[in-house]
Amino acid sequence: MVNPTKSDITEKIVSLSKRRGFIFQSSEIYGGLNGCYDYGPLGVELLRNIKEAWWKEMTYREDIEGIDASILMHPRVWEASGHVEHFTDPMVDCKECKARFREDQVEDSECGNKAYKGRKASKCMAEGKFTAARSFNLMFKTHIGPLEESSAMVFLRPETAQGIYVNFNNVKDSSRQRLPFGIAQIGKAFRNEINTKNFLFRTREFEQMEMQYFINPAEDQKYFEYWREERFNWFVKYGMQPERLKLHVHEKLAHYARAAVDIEYEFPFGWGEIEGIHNRTDFDLKRHTEFSGKKIEYFDDQSKERFTPFVIETSAGASRSFFAFLCNAYGEEEVTKQNDDGTTSSELRTVLRFHPALAPIKVAVFPLVNRDGMQDIAHNINDHLRTKFKSFYDDSGAVGRRYRRQDECGTPLCLTVDSETIYDNTVTVRERDSMKQERIHKDNLLEFIRAKLDT
Ligand code: GAP
Repeated sequence: MVNPTKSDITEKIVSLSKRRGFIFQSSEIYGGLNGCYDYGPLGVELLRNIKEAWWKEMTYREDIEGIDASILMHPRVWEASGHVEHFTDPMVDCKECKARFREDQVEDSECGNKAYKGRKASKCMAEGKFTAARSFNLMFKTHIGPLEESSAMVFLRPETAQGIYVNFNNVKDSSRQRLPFGIAQIGKAFRNEINTKNFLFRTREFEQMEMQYFINPAEDQKYFEYWREERFNWFVKYGMQPERLKLHVHEKLAHYARAAVDIEYEFPFGWGEIEGIHNRTDFDLKRHTEFSGKKIEYFDDQSKERFTPFVIETSAGASRSFFAFLCNAYGEEEVTKQNDDGTTSSELRTVLRFHPALAPIKVAVFPLVNRDGMQDIAHNINDHLRTKFKSFYDDSGAVGRRYRRQDECGTPLCLTVDSETIYDNTVTVRERDSMKQERIHKDNLLEFIRAKLDT
């Protein structure tokens, strides 16, 4: 196993992401748009698989319902939630180079002047080059209606959670759920971050996977602990190495929270939050009751009590989890290569060891050589498999090169049609991680692949 330096790994992942079609810079041909990224053909599959795994885990159970609320919401929502007042970062500007920093990140930042490469921004601050800190609201604003002057200002939602709170009565009444029950949602969120950084880690447009679990206030600690365990285990279930995950308990709490813990992942640049689990008390439901004038309460038939439920929130970034799963899967190793003249040599293989459920392509199908009808057989197999899994046909270049390409895409299985296939209808199946090969009869392929992928 090869151990590239951590800073190398981020650069290698960014470059592999572009080369293999996971992530592209937004509007790249125009020079890009800071803090925004596009998911390419493999990226969109990986992202969908992550969201699907989360959706199944969270909503294929009796006590959680799903919704999909609109991104634009009534502006009063954000007054009630506290975002208009509190969702701000202290911002400072360098009077000399005009670079803008979050005040609490100056220590970790570099001066924006290219002439002083490597110079710490804190040095410029100490020299008095910075303005005083100003509050900067992170919500993006836009307008509803044809004319900006006469229309209402609205915000692009900075979190999906509020779409759940304002629908509490609708979901409770239509689904006839009783406490405890949850509402889950996956969707885009937008934050005008002052400093975007570390590739997909902090972007201006991203996706969240949030679930709000409504409970009797007396049970808040029990459910906080329950969801902390469930969510940590979900990342492990989908292949995260447990030693690269940790819990970070918040000492300083947000205005709405009674307890908060982050699940952190060890990215190549250091530990970073991928999901937060919060006890948000009855803050949000009470505020929406106050601001809308509509009661958001729960009546317990057994105790005959009426109360405002507490909320345990699980809030994961889909985009940030995507980045963590990508880093977690990334590996490099020396392998033995068979040369055309029969000799062997060693080469470096880059491999993405995704959990099979997350892998963008499940199976690749190759004809060993492009003759003797091998292409037709391989096409037929691929056409059949494609109706069940995301599969991929490739007949260009040496088969070793084709394996390497699929290793970089994270494809768990490669099937090769060769001269033996013509006589006995078996194909070679090669596993991504062990690189072991075995021969399987064509008729048994579907069953074999299903068992390997556990789908
Ligand atoms: N509803 C609570 C909430 O939004 P948060 O800690 O601000 O809490 C939750 O965000 C998750 O959303 C984070 O753990 C992270 O995974 C993701 N996230 C937040 N800001 C992000 C950004 N600028 N870029 C990418 N992901 C972000």
